[in-house]
Amino acid sequence: MNNKTKLRWGILGAARVNERLMPAIIEASNAELAAIASRRPGAAAQTLERYAPQQQARTYDNLDALLNDPEVDAVYLPLANHEHAEWALRAIEHGKHVLCEKPMALTVADIDAIQAAAQKHQVTVMEGFMYRFHPQHAKVRELIDSGIIGDIRSVRSSFSFMMKPERLYRLAESVENGGGAMWDIGCYAIHSARMFIDEPAVSVSAIAKYVESGADSATSGIIDFGDGKYAHFDFSFERARRCEYEITGTKGGIKCHNVWCMPGDAPMISWWSEGGEPSEEWLHAANHFRLEIEHFSDCVLNGKAPALSLDDAKANCRIIVGALQSAATGQRVKLV
Ligand SMILES: NC(=O)c1ccc[n+]([C@@H]2O[C@H](COP(=O)([O-])OP(=O)(O)OC[C@H]3O[C@@H](n4cnc5c(N)ncnc54)[C@H](OP(=O)(O)O)[C@@H]3O)[C@@H](O)[C@H]2O)c1
Repeated sequence: MNNKTKLRWGILGAARVNERLMPAIIEASNAELAAIASRRPGAAAQTLERYAPQQQARTYDNLDALLNDPEVDAVYLPLANHEHAEWALRAIEHGKHVLCEKPMALTVADIDAIQAAAQKHQVTVMEGFMYRFHPQHAKVRELIDSGIIGDIRSVRSSFSFMMKPERLYRLAESVENGGGAMWDIGCYAIHSARMFIDEPAVSVSAIAKYVESGADSATSGIIDFGDGKYAHFDFSFERARRCEYEITGTKGGIKCHNVWCMPGDAPMISWWSEGGEPSEEWLHAANHFRLEIEHFSDCVLNGKAPALSLDDAKANCRIIVGALQSAATGQRVKLV
């Protein structure tokens, strides 16, 4: 990678989310879109035409061809959830760096295998939680560090919207096969709740509504971090839109109102402190997809560790798997 200023990206799968990622790769200062592949004949070319019509990227009608392309340095992996681990491993074995859409895998053991392979092949691998690259969370961190809310005691994160009928295929698979709200949006809610309580989770409890396939359509739960520190999460495909987290400390609270925003959305943060006036601030819009691509490209080009480690991916997966088990059994699940 020496002396290169742009990381050459290949996209493994003609997925809907490419609508966000392809423009982000093109706009990123240190990345270029080299190739896209799909298993459906013509789908890669169609996706390129739709989302990046000016680009000269190569298109392939099978995924292995992209992995064998020596002019692809890094792979963005937006396949279906249950395919992530298998294709991340294949890409790593081909010497590719991998930015894998969330969730990286459906089991902690699969992330262990990815971590071992990444170490062996000396490649960078990161789970694609793009929202973490939005500057609004640095602003929240700044407020916490200023001491206005005191010591953090709890975080609540909520992600819900009415799922459009044409997207209900997300409920076609059971949770064991990567379907349902937990793997789709719950992983974000849990990840964001963990952002400000930097301790291992002790246990998790959850309740869920399931549809016929065995996918969850609405889930709520509590993560216990010990010493009275809790994270409350709730997410649903059948409620009005919310995409927020709220942190409560010993002296006040901070709320991030639009966590999983679209690139053009102006995000808002509000906060209060005992004895003080409530405050709020609108921040500038930022494209967290582009910022994520620039971060990952910088890590690979300059030999830096990514902001989101594979240990972080495992910690998130451990809680998700525990929450699914808790919802299925009605029991609290110990995590340590
Ligand atoms: N970061 C975000 O904001 C965000 C947003 C949405 C989703 N995601 C994540 O990104 C991943 C992809 O989600 P998505 O909703 O974009 O997936 P999707 O459109 O359902 O596509 C997933 C895969 O299924 C195949 N596929 C797509 N359309 C198909 C069709 N009509 N018939 C048969 N196969 C089809 C594609 O592989 P082939 O091209 O090889 O056939 C594609 O890579 C998931 O892991 C999801 O959790 C992230």
